[in-house]
Amino acid sequence: MIKNKDLFAHKSKSWDMNSNRVQNAKGIAELIVSNIKLDTSMEIMDFGAGTGLLSYFVAPYVKKIVAVDNSPSMLLEFQNKCNDFVCETEVIEKDLSIDILERKFDGIISSMTIHHLEDTYTLFSKLYTMLEDGGFIAIADLDREDGNFHSDNTGVFHYGFDRHLLAQEAQKAGFKDISFSLAHTISKPHADFTVFLLTAVK
Ligand SMILES: C[S@@+](CC[C@H](N)C(=O)[O-])C[C@H]1O[C@@H](n2cnc3c(N)ncnc32)[C@H](O)[C@@H]1O
Repeated sequence: MIKNKDLFAHKSKSWDMNSNRVQNAKGIAELIVSNIKLDTSMEIMDFGAGTGLLSYFVAPYVKKIVAVDNSPSMLLEFQNKCNDFVCETEVIEKDLSIDILERKFDGIISSMTIHHLEDTYTLFSKLYTMLEDGGFIAIADLDREDGNFHSDNTGVFHYGFDRHLLAQEAQKAGFKDISFSLAHTISKPHADFTVFLLTAVK
């Protein structure tokens, strides 16, 4: 099979140097920790983990984080930081728009990744399959925007999301107790962009 190009190869090394990104991941992690009962027996997937910004802040509350991402360059940065994480970690290179993992998790977290996948209903169905009964998802991404968040929209399938439509897709995939909250506002010189956290259970 032909592998897709690593769209983050030119950004991975400097990814963590952007304080907007770090503050966003911190805000999302704080909301996850306050909204979801995490415990140190849990094995969690960070979908689209990238360099591990979100994982880093959630690590103190769980047993293990499995970083799943289709970008080898981002995962290399994750791996280079593994010793800084206070939980166990594992790195898996996988494109979830094509594949699925044959294992189950207590929860799946994700930050700023699902706008890179065209078919969000199929993604929700896969996430549902990869969860233990009673497992949770906590997914953060942009509210609907006008296409100006990214300076280059290569690989961007959604200019943010309509919360109501996204909730319908999650529900269709089987999720219940779906709720949204505001996780963070990213201020750029030309505009402010809000980031939601969607939580739901299997
Ligand atoms: C905007 S970055 C966010 C990284 C990290 N979660 C953060 O908040 O800093 C999106 C990440 O999702 C990954 N990604 C995009 N599409 C993916 C797919 N189909 N399967 C797995 N990972 C994907 C990218 O490689 C990238 O690391």
